Amino acid sequence: MTMSAWERPWCGRVTRENLGQKVELVGWVRRRRDLGGLIFADLRDRTGLVQLVFEDEMVAAGEQLSGQDVIRVRGVVRPRAEGQANPNLATGEIEIRVSELEILTESETPPFVIEDDTNASEDLRLTYRYLDLRRPVMTANLVLRHRIVAETRRYFDEMEFIEVETPILTRSTPEGARDFLVPSRLHKGAFYALPQSPQLFKQLLQVAGLGRYIQIARCFRDEDLRADRQPEFTQIDVEASFVREEDIFVLTEGLFRRIFPLAGIPFPAKVPRLDYFEAMERFGSDRPDTRFGLELVELGPLCEGCGFQVLENAAATGRVKGLVLPGGAALSRKQLDQLSDFVKPYGAAGLLWFKRTENGVASPAKKALGEAGAARFLDAAGAGEGDLLLAVGGSEKVVFASLGALRVELAKEHGLIPGGRHDFLWVTGFPLLEWSEEDGRFYACHHPFTSPLPEDAGRLESDPGSVRARAYDIVMDGVELGGGSIRIHDPALQRRMFRALGIGEEEANARFGFLLEAFRYGVPPHGGIALGLDRIVMLMAGRDSIRDVIAFPKTTSGSCLLTGAPAGVDPAQLKELGLKP
Ligand code: AMO
Repeated sequence: MTMSAWERPWCGRVTRENLGQKVELVGWVRRRRDLGGLIFADLRDRTGLVQLVFEDEMVAAGEQLSGQDVIRVRGVVRPRAEGQANPNLATGEIEIRVSELEILTESETPPFVIEDDTNASEDLRLTYRYLDLRRPVMTANLVLRHRIVAETRRYFDEMEFIEVETPILTRSTPEGARDFLVPSRLHKGAFYALPQSPQLFKQLLQVAGLGRYIQIARCFRDEDLRADRQPEFTQIDVEASFVREEDIFVLTEGLFRRIFPLAGIPFPAKVPRLDYFEAMERFGSDRPDTRFGLELVELGPLCEGCGFQVLENAAATGRVKGLVLPGGAALSRKQLDQLSDFVKPYGAAGLLWFKRTENGVASPAKKALGEAGAARFLDAAGAGEGDLLLAVGGSEKVVFASLGALRVELAKEHGLIPGGRHDFLWVTGFPLLEWSEEDGRFYACHHPFTSPLPEDAGRLESDPGSVRARAYDIVMDGVELGGGSIRIHDPALQRRMFRALGIGEEEANARFGFLLEAFRYGVPPHGGIALGLDRIVMLMAGRDSIRDVIAFPKTTSGSCLLTGAPAGVDPAQLKELGLKP
């Protein structure tokens, strides 16, 4: 007779409390050690492992076991022999003296060692993801993810939010990335789009009068992938009626105060706020990592008439800023060249360096600037002896992007990020619109439903670029965890916004007509936020990639190595969908 599955203890939870009891356990064999007349094996499940002992009449049975076999055993819980206890293990004081063994399935030798420390490549791990997930670190990530989601649902339930599912087969949503399309069989030539977010539906749910909405929502975006970007990802998606920015801040901080302690990370009593423009000037980024200094310094005014043509031109047509690496004067020419190469992909023509050493100032610009001229740059930047000033000139966009990235790179390379510290901050005061040189038009920085600041809205026609948005992002350690806004609820203002975006009446009606229509029947003022669940779990688990906290992620080229998706399909299917004659 076997026990009820729900009464049987987990391997990792058998402890001293069970001494003397006869227990039944199931799991995977981790490792077998033959000591001649005595066999030890670890039995593992999701919760951890427990030591099995096969002795006397059970030795022959134990000899049949190999790693990753699935077995059921019964035996008595007894203390480990004197000096054999393992204090690092919950089950470290006991072992199971096995009296019955049933091998349920045998395992072939797996393609890599199923331990936390593995030298398997990520491709191999993704191909055999179920084995990868059997590694305790990976299992722990999924367990943590579950606990975060469970606590999130509890929190929002207590705050009287209701969870509503929104469609996956829908129309293009306004997040601005590329859509994944699904061809319709019943309407040949027509397509559903997978939602980039539930944005429009959560706004419609406010018109519906639900008041407080939450959804653990799957979103789909066909973008270039990075360590913190997947083509399908999960948002903690929130929207509420009759709220202001402050309400969303309090709500989000309340959630974080509940979930971050699940990973032992205290959440601060007060989260600092940083204006977007200040963030850009000081850190070159709208998601600054504030755990270290290396703040950007202004060099523009020094460049005027300085005698070095390159700097004079850059300052006249754009911006010149820099940052100081303390002790950086020791960097070699080769290292400086590498840093120069590092900023090139961000559009910088190069990186100009100034060193202050005991022998004076060194810089490629010294010939043109003179010793005193070059020293003025170091003085302005606050660089002392032994320090290095790195400067970039060019358009504001290029200067911010290159120095912003360089700042993070230098901090990582030189170990300037304090271990165990976590910084949270709100970034506010974003511009509403962003001008695209390439397309000669404005785009919404957030999305077209974000409200302008009331005091700026009057300039929507006369000076659209200067209008700020009622938008906010929450940032942790240089990662954008989430963003949202207070929405436009006035149809006339919404029409002006579309006009500013160069979206004509007809296009607006075709794409978002249903939302504009809905706004005619009593729309409450509303706003919300979406938090990237994968990124939150990644940072809480101390990982560098969201792939480590998603059970079945895609590679950076968008494939699933386990299933082989995306894959070709049967020509008959294409025909049925009207995609092939
Ligand atoms: P936004 O586009 O800023 O806002 O997305 C919100 C958060 O979702 C996460 N995120 C991603 N995570 C993983 N992979 C991706 N490809 C990816 N893209 C975004 C980020 C981001 O901060 N509808 C609005 C929210 C609102 O206005 O309420 C929206 O989707 O953590």
